[in-house]
Amino acid sequence: MAFNHKDYYFKKAKKENFVARSVYKLEEIDQRHRIFRGGQTIIDLGASPGSWSQYVSKKVGSEGKILGIDLTPVALNLPNATFVAGDIEDTDMEKLLAIHGLGPKVDVVISDMAPRTTGIKSADQARSMALCEMALYVAQKTLKVGGTFVVKFFHSGDFENYRKMLRASFTSVGALKPKGTRQESKEIFFICSGFKTNSVT
Ligand SMILES: C[S@@+](CC[C@H](N)C(=O)[O-])C[C@H]1O[C@@H](n2cnc3c(N)ncnc32)[C@H](O)[C@@H]1O
Repeated sequence: MAFNHKDYYFKKAKKENFVARSVYKLEEIDQRHRIFRGGQTIIDLGASPGSWSQYVSKKVGSEGKILGIDLTPVALNLPNATFVAGDIEDTDMEKLLAIHGLGPKVDVVISDMAPRTTGIKSADQARSMALCEMALYVAQKTLKVGGTFVVKFFHSGDFENYRKMLRASFTSVGALKPKGTRQESKEIFFICSGFKTNSVT
């Protein structure tokens, strides 16, 4: 019988009490790039149902803090995380950090945001790129100098253009397709470290 990729990670997540199998993508990214440490403050964009926050919650520990946002409310109770239901497009993340007593700057911004697909390739790609640009904007506004940004990207003609934008803001920009991502999937993750400066006004 062929290896059922979806089923394997789904069962593993269930067994390990994670609310989604996407957690294994972030785990692999972290194992390779050593992103999370105790005491960090993290923004989680597209946080629902919450497996990335579950993973990060353990990594940053009781001294760390997470602010997660998603269109869909997150029904999880984590001791060091606050979740807000909202559209990143209409949200002033700097204000939101202040309201929740966080920031003004954070150590890491992670984005697993994905648009609801329509099946119309050009529209889906444009929406996906818009979400990536919004995530980068949040990172530029909220990261400490030296901070890290992890963002999901759907491979398209915009790849080089987006990588160029990332390179303008970070000293190192890598791309990874984790094992938890199906082979046929177009998704990859950019891992950007060494945020240069708050260049967006
Ligand atoms: C793949 S899921 C994230 C899974 C999550 N990282 C986890 O581990 O549980 C993608 C999420 O992006 C969210 N999303 C899409 N567009 C958004 C937007 N404009 N603002 C906030 N969240 C958005 C969706 O609602 C969806 O929950």
